[in-house]
Amino acid sequence: MNGSDVTNTQYRQAMGSLLALYTQVDGLIGEVCDDRLGRVPDAAARAALAKQVVDERRHVEIQEEWISRLGTDPTPPIPAPAAEAIRAYFAELPWLEFLADLYLGVEALGSGAVEEIVPLADPGTRESLRVPLADEADHVAFGVGRLREELSRLEPAARRAFVRTLPARLDRLAGQIRALAPALPALFAAVGVPYAAVRDAVVARRTTLLDTLAAA
Ligand SMILES: [Fe+2]
Ligand SMILES: [Fe+2]
Repeated sequence: MNGSDVTNTQYRQAMGSLLALYTQVDGLIGEVCDDRLGRVPDAAARAALAKQVVDERRHVEIQEEWISRLGTDPTPPIPAPAAEAIRAYFAELPWLEFLADLYLGVEALGSGAVEEIVPLADPGTRESLRVPLADEADHVAFGVGRLREELSRLEPAARRAFVRTLPARLDRLAGQIRALAPALPALFAAVGVPYAAVRDAVVARRTTLLDTLAAA
């Protein structure tokens, strides 16, 4: 029996828990984008966020359907008050900070972690992640592209000052995610993905993103 055998209860429970977290975050991102729709700077941003709201809803449907077939606990792992705090946090962010936190901190780095699951996952899980991860790549392309564009319009000193704030912003977000989901290292390990590999992949992606933005 290998690690990605869905008849293995421990694997199935761990994968279900990871997917339940991803699904809940997708739902929250969709709500955060929906809430932002009336306050974006232009029609291009409105179109991208409106598409994303639809995409995230579809991801939630796909994942919920697969989690129910896995037969694992579908309870959203982030408690309601913390989920509400996440909505409120994003609702308050100015546009540049919104782009940074949502697209770098959550979409790019979060989907980087989810992608680590795919190669070793069972076929049903892999299939359930196919459409969502393709869409996440679109969302990241929009968010990072838009952030670069906004930064290129700033005075060089203001641009450098903003880029310098990013590592601390991303550290803080990562710390909050770890606090909300302390079981993540054990869950990844239980589906055959060493957490160190996830961390290395996320750190590498983060470095690439920050380099791209520093050069904007
Ligand atoms: Fe998604
Ligand atoms: Fe997304």
